[in-house]
Amino acid sequence: MRRTFCWRLVKFLVASAVLVLSAHLLLSSVSKHTELPPTLSAGEYRLISPDTYHYLLNQPAVCQDRSPFLVFLVPVGPQEAAAREAVRGTWGGSGPGSLTLFFTGLPEGGRGAAAQKELEEESRQHADIIQINFVDSYHNLTIKTVLMMKWLATHCPHASYAMKVDADIFVNVFQLLGRLRGSPRQGFITGSVIRDGRPRRDPSSKWYLSEELYPEDSFPPYVSGAGYVFSADMAARISWASRFVRLIPLEDVYVGLCLRVLGVRPVYSYSLPSFRNLFEIRSLQYDRCIFSRLVIINGFKPSELLQAWHDFSKGHGSC
Ligand SMILES: *[C@@H]1O[C@H](CO)[C@@H](O)[C@H](O)[C@H]1NC(C)=O
Repeated sequence: MRRTFCWRLVKFLVASAVLVLSAHLLLSSVSKHTELPPTLSAGEYRLISPDTYHYLLNQPAVCQDRSPFLVFLVPVGPQEAAAREAVRGTWGGSGPGSLTLFFTGLPEGGRGAAAQKELEEESRQHADIIQINFVDSYHNLTIKTVLMMKWLATHCPHASYAMKVDADIFVNVFQLLGRLRGSPRQGFITGSVIRDGRPRRDPSSKWYLSEELYPEDSFPPYVSGAGYVFSADMAARISWASRFVRLIPLEDVYVGLCLRVLGVRPVYSYSLPSFRNLFEIRSLQYDRCIFSRLVIINGFKPSELLQAWHDFSKGHGSC
């Protein structure tokens, strides 16, 4: 009597376990299928596909003998030599664990042969310029971002972290490196997170998006494009997700749409106890000790960046 009861109990438990497990497997595969949007048509994907473009200048071997802790991916116009020089002379100057690369396209309004020669000369000198054959315009920044991700995934797959950052940003590398040492190594992206973004439907806006291009009336959470940091595995994943996301001319929202496909939530970076946003997207008057507590500050001309860094790099430790 007692024995049959035990036996029934065992059978019951095994059956329940099998049931729960298969329900779990079924549900997770179903939800994966429903979450993934349809792939883009060949025509739509061609616009952002890395196969559409080729490198005019490349640095394919920069990561061959090293695995940088942090790679700065800096989008710049081909003519912005002064901005590149300021970045090299400040936060982008090669530290032991970091690497800085500039991504550029073709000048708008045609390629000046002389300007191209200068760029090639600069590239020979510094070996940090990657030029791709698309027109380097504000509207094409999304293409540039997807190609930067693809570049990192292909040529520097063993880096730990990367930061997409504009050349007019002040980056407090000391604060940044310190924070990254305790951060997740995978599936991680942080910056100034925008959760309530909506498309602008006014055609005169710089950020105009037609309903045809983007029918939804809100954006998923995304990190502001001025500067954001991610674990390097995200480069291949974002590049993969771009097969499912139609090209829109807002690169940071575009990355947010890729994150939604991937099910990765961007993380807000703040300091305690005030919950101060560490990725300051406004521009602030230079102040050594205020800057020492932040990660980025927006809106620096090359000369201002050099000047502020000159003071900061020597004095930030005494705040
Ligand atoms: C973007 O780049 C492509 C490829 O070079 C070019 O055909 C197109 O005109 C560019 N778009 C804009 C808005 O500059």
